[in-house]
Amino acid sequence: MLPKNKIIHGDCIEILKTFPENCFDLIFADPPYNLQLPKNRKLVRKDGSEVIPVSDQWDQFESYEDYDNFTQNWLKECQRVLKPTGTIWVMGMYHNIFRVGKIMQDLGIWFLNDVIWVKIDAMPNFNGRRFTNNHETLIWAVKNKNCKNYTFNFELLKKMNGGEQMKDTDWNFAICRGPERLKDENGIKAHPTQKPLKLIQQVLLTASNKGDLILDPFLGSGTTAVVAKALGRDWIGIEKEEKYLKLANNRIQGYGNEQQK
Ligand SMILES: C[S@@+](CC[C@H](N)C(=O)[O-])C[C@H]1O[C@@H](n2cnc3c(N)ncnc32)[C@H](O)[C@@H]1O
Repeated sequence: MLPKNKIIHGDCIEILKTFPENCFDLIFADPPYNLQLPKNRKLVRKDGSEVIPVSDQWDQFESYEDYDNFTQNWLKECQRVLKPTGTIWVMGMYHNIFRVGKIMQDLGIWFLNDVIWVKIDAMPNFNGRRFTNNHETLIWAVKNKNCKNYTFNFELLKKMNGGEQMKDTDWNFAICRGPERLKDENGIKAHPTQKPLKLIQQVLLTASNKGDLILDPFLGSGTTAVVAKALGRDWIGIEKEEKYLKLANNRIQGYGNEQQK
């Protein structure tokens, strides 16, 4: 029996191996970016305040080869557990998404679209040495080339778009801030890469239906689980850091209570 609507603590590669094949309707994966700043280099805003980058241990890899091996291992398992009618969404930035995309294609995962999340309020490039990095990419794909009957809620999206076909692959959403952003007792971001609810809501509305089973192998602060719960989907999340597991569990339980008030 699959542990539905629960977060499993551990390494997703090991945990994914315990799932039967073809059991998930949608996989949303927001993996480590391999986004490592050179040691001791600080990013400073114009007002002198420091930008806190993603420097957590979970984002550290020895080399590109190390990152690629890790990526191949979790993607291979995701491909195995994805239903032929399901789709996988993998998001990333220019640091990692091209490597991730190549590995997906080498595994035979078949691309449907690349969706661009345009961050309408992205942080500017402070030192003025390149453009503002104002987007992330979501690769939307099926298990293999033969999977034609995947879920795409064309009619629902059309309704949501005032009767016009929803055809754009650039999605405009603000980054996660304000009351939605989880903070710790010192007012510091509780998770460094919390994604906006609206972005994941759009993914789930596009490619899943009520009662479907959603997997997030890198659950982090629990965003996918919160959206899945709100939209009546079942979900399973995997997270290897205990502090994020607790954060996500509190968030998901709190969300349910908020809804009942
Ligand atoms: C980019 S973050 C995901 C953020 C999430 N989408 C959110 O909105 O909060 C990646 C998460 O994957 C976790 N992680 C990294 N490697 C993992 C692994 N091998 N197995 C399970 N979780 C892992 C990290 O601890 C981190 O919380």
